[in-house]
Amino acid sequence: MSDDAAPLDRARAPRPIPKSGIMDIHAYVPGKAKAEGVEHPIKLSANENILGASPKAREAYAASADDLHIYPDSRTSILRDAIAQQFRLEPERLIFGCGSDEIFQLLNQAFLEPGDNIVQGEFAFAAYAIGARACQAEVKCAREPGHRIDVDELLATVDERTRLVFLANPGNPTGTWIPFSEVLRLHAHLPPSVVLVLDGAYGEFADDPAFDDGLDFARGAENVVVTHTFSKLHGLASLRVGWGYAPGAIAAAVDRIRLPFNTSIAGQRAAVAALADTEFQARSLAHVNQWRPWLTQQIGGIGLEVVGPSATNFVLVGFPKTPGKTARDADEFLSARGLLTRSLLNYGMPDHLRITIGLEEHNRAVVDALAEFMKA
Ligand SMILES: Cc1ncc(COP(=O)(O)O)c(C=O)c1O
Repeated sequence: MSDDAAPLDRARAPRPIPKSGIMDIHAYVPGKAKAEGVEHPIKLSANENILGASPKAREAYAASADDLHIYPDSRTSILRDAIAQQFRLEPERLIFGCGSDEIFQLLNQAFLEPGDNIVQGEFAFAAYAIGARACQAEVKCAREPGHRIDVDELLATVDERTRLVFLANPGNPTGTWIPFSEVLRLHAHLPPSVVLVLDGAYGEFADDPAFDDGLDFARGAENVVVTHTFSKLHGLASLRVGWGYAPGAIAAAVDRIRLPFNTSIAGQRAAVAALADTEFQARSLAHVNQWRPWLTQQIGGIGLEVVGPSATNFVLVGFPKTPGKTARDADEFLSARGLLTRSLLNYGMPDHLRITIGLEEHNRAVVDALAEFMKA
């Protein structure tokens, strides 16, 4: 069933037919969690926190077992108050979701009519486009020369029907980032009717002074939404908690269409505890800061290209096109040794693999295996 097919009379179809465009969407492909024949593979395919989660968050989660029969607070009040206080934000401008994924979807639903479009970089995180296509909107991709967002390319891609621009900074799967001065330039040239979504899923890992997640700027802007997640730095990916800071009018629009109980009791409580656990956050950042340069340097030393510099908890590695040495060959080679990395075929990057920074033994195993692969 494709958009090219003759329009179907859905009312007279012999079976229910999804609306136009739905079956053309490529479903999200998660990082793999299994390797054939390997009992306990090492999962470096989903940019999770390799140190696990904050012990305080784990306690809060376990204590929530007593409340399994209770509906959660629909306003996510305890987390709303904690985030508002920590970042000095107005509580009513916060949006919560089942991961930041849901926030992107809600924004798409609130702003896109059929025929409208979103603009994003060519290697943008897949969830933006899935949500937009579900609204029968178009997805317009701007070139990312050198695997980096280019503001001029984004601006040249915006047109009359653009309603949202999605920018992950740093990006996934590229790991690269742009300075905040560039984000401000993008914003300055966007029509005020376009929502600029600054996805800060990996923002905590970026430590260059020229980086900024945009929260401060968003306070005074009427078309900027900044999103964050508890899935990466805080290690709560399984609990699905994301948040956004939006202008009041956008927060109010999203509030009308979200599911009433879109964050769980355990998720709310664990997120509050994780936010307060600065020791775990510092440990997680120190781990990434120690091993990211090491992996970059070692993999580079093998003769492979590491895209970057990465400002995230992963590295993007480029492979030759030579048969036997391709990214696909490397993915198989690593998988057979229990090292699960992320193939990027669905991102149109057949020559790259994305590798989450692991524990010391994982990182050493990856480098040893890649060296063996390239020599073989
Ligand atoms: C760039 C980016 N944004 C958002 C997310 C979504 O995170 P979550 O839905 O777990 O909050 C991810 C997850 O990998 C991501 O890579």
